[in-house]
Amino acid sequence: MVNKNAIILAAGKGTRMKSKLYKVLHEVCGRPMVDHVLTQVERTNPTNIVTIVGHGAEKVKDYLGGRSQYALQAEQLGTGHAVLQAEALLKDEDGITIVVSGDTPLLTAETFEKLFAYHHDKGAKATILTATAPDPTGYGRIIRNDIGIVEKIVEQKDANDKEAAVNEINTGVYCFDNQTLFQALHEVTNKNAQGEYYLTDVVEILKKKGEIVAAYRMPNFEESMGVNDRIALAAATKVMRKRINTEHMRNGVTLIDPDNTYIEVGVTIGNDTIVEPNVVLKGNTIIGSDCFVGAGSTLIDATIEDNVQITSSMIESAMMHTGANIGPNSHLRPNAEIGEAVHIGNFCEVKNAKIGDRTKIGHLSYVGDATLGTDINVGCGVVFVNYDGVAKHHANVGSHVFIGSNSNIVAPVEIADHTFIAAGSTITDDVPEKAMAIARARQTNKANYWAKLPVANDEEWQ
Ligand code: UD1
Ligand code: CA
Repeated sequence: MVNKNAIILAAGKGTRMKSKLYKVLHEVCGRPMVDHVLTQVERTNPTNIVTIVGHGAEKVKDYLGGRSQYALQAEQLGTGHAVLQAEALLKDEDGITIVVSGDTPLLTAETFEKLFAYHHDKGAKATILTATAPDPTGYGRIIRNDIGIVEKIVEQKDANDKEAAVNEINTGVYCFDNQTLFQALHEVTNKNAQGEYYLTDVVEILKKKGEIVAAYRMPNFEESMGVNDRIALAAATKVMRKRINTEHMRNGVTLIDPDNTYIEVGVTIGNDTIVEPNVVLKGNTIIGSDCFVGAGSTLIDATIEDNVQITSSMIESAMMHTGANIGPNSHLRPNAEIGEAVHIGNFCEVKNAKIGDRTKIGHLSYVGDATLGTDINVGCGVVFVNYDGVAKHHANVGSHVFIGSNSNIVAPVEIADHTFIAAGSTITDDVPEKAMAIARARQTNKANYWAKLPVANDEEWQ
């Protein structure tokens, strides 16, 4: 096996993004672009991975952590200068080095492997990964001679009309003989339209020395897409989304409208789950089998077991056990744990609360900072009053409890098993087992009060 190294270029600011966030940290389907690149590079098992950092160096390093070594490019003098910063770490290594940009999030390890194989077959010192672009604007162009041999790469800004018309582009990925690369980099100058040290000039330098430079043209341009602005970011996201959705469908998930289903990379979904349009699934969301995720639902870091029905609801950092259902228009907030076969209907909010199996919370309720047992019926409009303006308090409710509609459960409070809360009660004291609590003023009827009302003499009211 040939020793393999990898360099990821991630020092640029990404001026064209017009952003406070460094370019390679912009997300595509839930992960920064540079994470996508590193993940695919890792799949090729290199001995060394060096990420070149500059703008936002600390942020990039914090994010990627120990997955890579780092070399700092203090000033962004061009891609050639960027690669040279890895010299101290890599110059004594044998074998090959792949260079990839941190802003090409769609490239796959399979393509890198094909590039390595081509490089090896051609006995080349450098192999460029190229593609045919429908619109090559902005990319470096691959200039070949009459018999198709690569001569050089010309950047957009340095290209004459004939060169600019070429639609074979440099994807920004290369495979080099490692030691040849670092020798050649010392010969790169910045005499070009942008005053930068171009990595692409290494091609011409090696050619002049009589070395073999090859170009492997990948069949799929889309995969090579480089992201320099928000338009390309949206385009890359669309391609990645399609890739993710296709994979879920292959795994047996029904997506009613895959073009309008937004699933981030880290999400897993079991087979025979149905996902309706305009659903957004983010972060580390895990969904079991035979679930239904209805139109317009958003799930962020949610854990959903099998057979759960979610109708137009939002679930964040919360869990639903087997057979539970929710919605439409309800909200599970962080640390809500919904038991088996629980029913949560419409316009309910549950936060930092554990709901026991088979409990029903049908309509217009707020349950915050509470532990509820099994088989409870929470009536319409029940509010767990958890906040006194200073601190949050917890309420405990046992099992087989009936909480009448429009009750306020003022925490801290304990409601024991087999109890009954009368509708409209404001519960401030503990309720012992098997008791009925009623905490509201008694009704009085004032006889013949009508006569005292101003409308009593109004003809329309008679
Ligand atoms: C580069 C290539 C171009 C190719 C295109 C593919 C050069 C000169 N041009 O152009 O032929 O078609 O990629 O997407 O290489 N970077 C640094 N330090 C620097 C400059 C850039 O780390 O001093 C990093 C950037 O963060 C980015 C990558 O290198 O991740 C590419 O730089 P960018 O400015 O986007 O190059 P392009 O103009 O796209
Ligand atoms: Ca680029």
